Amino acid sequence: MSDDSEIAAFIRANLPVTPVPGVPELRMHKAGPASGVGRLGNAAPYWAYWWAGGLALARYVLDHPAWVAGRRVIDLGAGSGLVGIAAARAGAARVVASEIDTHARIAIACNAALNAVPIADILGDMTNGPGPDADLLLVGDVFYAPEVAARVTLFLDRCVASGLQVLVGDPWRAPLPVERLTLLARDAVAETGTAKPAGVFAYRTG
Ligand SMILES: C[S@@+](CC[C@H](N)C(=O)[O-])C[C@H]1O[C@@H](n2cnc3c(N)ncnc32)[C@H](O)[C@@H]1O
Repeated sequence: MSDDSEIAAFIRANLPVTPVPGVPELRMHKAGPASGVGRLGNAAPYWAYWWAGGLALARYVLDHPAWVAGRRVIDLGAGSGLVGIAAARAGAARVVASEIDTHARIAIACNAALNAVPIADILGDMTNGPGPDADLLLVGDVFYAPEVAARVTLFLDRCVASGLQVLVGDPWRAPLPVERLTLLARDAVAETGTAKPAGVFAYRTG
């Protein structure tokens, strides 16, 4: 399966539409026991599963729409697009998703259509570049591995230096740069069935 439209058809046919845990305003295509996401040939289809940081951050922007309303928002490491879709639903003027996984980028388009919200652009990796032309960066559960966290931290430092605000959602994974974060809210989030604590943080340079 290599054609984008074939992959989108696979997602729509095999990943059931599922209410988002703790975010009943939204629904997403997510992997179930019979989805067979392995057939997509991707070793780690992160976008097909829930992530505590994204769940907490999506809930936060819907409960605190002033962070996003009328603003230009980027969902960095968007996965399935959950956080960006929540921002669009909460009134963002423009939402762009950034995601390195090509299948995830297709899933984001499927999930945006499912929730009837616009995602203006779905881009690849932007972490090598300068702070993008936006107001707010949303970062849901992207500090999941040390090398990814190091790369994203350098990028977020540049973003903050160029005037962007950054919100992070994370369940205190080990590589989270806690020295750069101010806790705004703490939530109990069920990414797999058992609720675990997850935080929403404002990011500042170290
Ligand atoms: C743990 S998942 C979280 C997905 C989503 N934010 C959520 O909370 O549901 C992290 C995502 O970050 C993506 N990612 C990792 N490095 C990235 C980079 N440099 N630029 C964009 N996305 C990246 C991965 O492909 C993965 O989909």
